[in-house]
Amino acid sequence: MIKLGAFDYITKPLIPDEVLNVISNSLNQQAVSQDQATPGISDANKEKQAPGMNGSFYIGTSAATRELYRQIEIVAPTNYSVILYGESGTGKEVIAKTIHQYSDRRDKPFIAMDCGTISKELSGSELFGHMKGAFTGALGDKEGHFELANGGTLFLDEVANLSYDIQAALLRVIQERKFKRVGGTRELSSDVRIIVASNENLQDAYQKGKFREDLFHRFNEFSINLPPLRKRRDDIESLAHFFLEKTNAELGKKIAGFDQQVLQLFLEYTWPGNLREMRNVVRRSVLLTAEGLISDHTLPFEITHFGQSARSSDSAHPAEPVARDSDLKNTTAKAEYQAIINVLKEVNNNKTKAAEILNIDRKTLYNKIKNYEK
Ligand SMILES: Nc1ncnc2c1ncn2[C@@H]1O[C@H](COP(=O)(O)OP(=O)(O)OP(=O)(O)O)[C@@H](O)[C@H]1O
Ligand SMILES: [Mg+2]
Repeated sequence: MIKLGAFDYITKPLIPDEVLNVISNSLNQQAVSQDQATPGISDANKEKQAPGMNGSFYIGTSAATRELYRQIEIVAPTNYSVILYGESGTGKEVIAKTIHQYSDRRDKPFIAMDCGTISKELSGSELFGHMKGAFTGALGDKEGHFELANGGTLFLDEVANLSYDIQAALLRVIQERKFKRVGGTRELSSDVRIIVASNENLQDAYQKGKFREDLFHRFNEFSINLPPLRKRRDDIESLAHFFLEKTNAELGKKIAGFDQQVLQLFLEYTWPGNLREMRNVVRRSVLLTAEGLISDHTLPFEITHFGQSARSSDSAHPAEPVARDSDLKNTTAKAEYQAIINVLKEVNNNKTKAAEILNIDRKTLYNKIKNYEK
């Protein structure tokens, strides 16, 4: 079975080399401001910035990111539906907005809907709108996302969470470009480009009967895998500097960089929260650093101790410090600490899973970690 992913699957039949050669690009840039950020986009396009896109983002130079932006550049100007696969914090929404921004739809709205948190009852009304009195709580007429996004792009985050009924309704709108508000009789038309994001492979989801196969094929005109940060090692250092500069600007500080140990820890850590986590870590460190370089004292526990655990379990005598300790309380605490670290490492720092394996609740785990941090 082919694992879905644009890297090894989509690009070959779709994009001949000649086309790629025509697309000029500036992928060598490391960190550039938003209006310069998407490579190969014509100047005319650059002038028309989409609303809400005035931040800045990082491109990176690792092979994985260059490939990513090459694909974004190619698919953005089309009307293709796009599936974005990627772990939490890899930048799915950022990429969805970027695709919108570099399409002809950039002057029309970009509307995002989080299908992961919305209730089954409400998702129909969110998508298609409703008429006053259509259900309890429908106090007035309301436009849905398909109306709001008309002419623009609709981004459906965590799309696998939509109920089967809603999936069927969605399929109809995509096929016929027509729909009715909940409780409404008038037929409305909508021209919307759809970008969806999912943590799980939608092909697996439809094979398990969780997702409609026909809808999957509608969405799957193009798919992009956003690489997790741990597979973008070459980007880690420059990404950290990118977030450092942004935070310096935000806080009016002049922190010069990271000391060697911090950079080493950054490289060893697996970043389960990906870019979001790194951004948060750097923001916290900059805040805690008065001057000079950022040191490991400003890093959160999971990063400082993750590295330590990786090193100690690689060494020949991992248990030595514990065995030599004569204070029983201390010994127990250290053993417990080591067990927690090992499990966290095993589950890629997923604290929910770690708590399960350790047979304690999440709150207890958090408290224990907090205590070690002291
Ligand atoms: N290319 C980038 N450059 C700079 N920052 C980025 C980039 N991509 C993501 N980020 C940062 O990471 C954060 C998370 O990005 P985003 O919300 O797009 O991730 P996501 O994949 O949608 O996450 P989730 O699965 O949790 O919804 C953003 O708020 C932004 O700060
Ligand atoms: Mg998201």
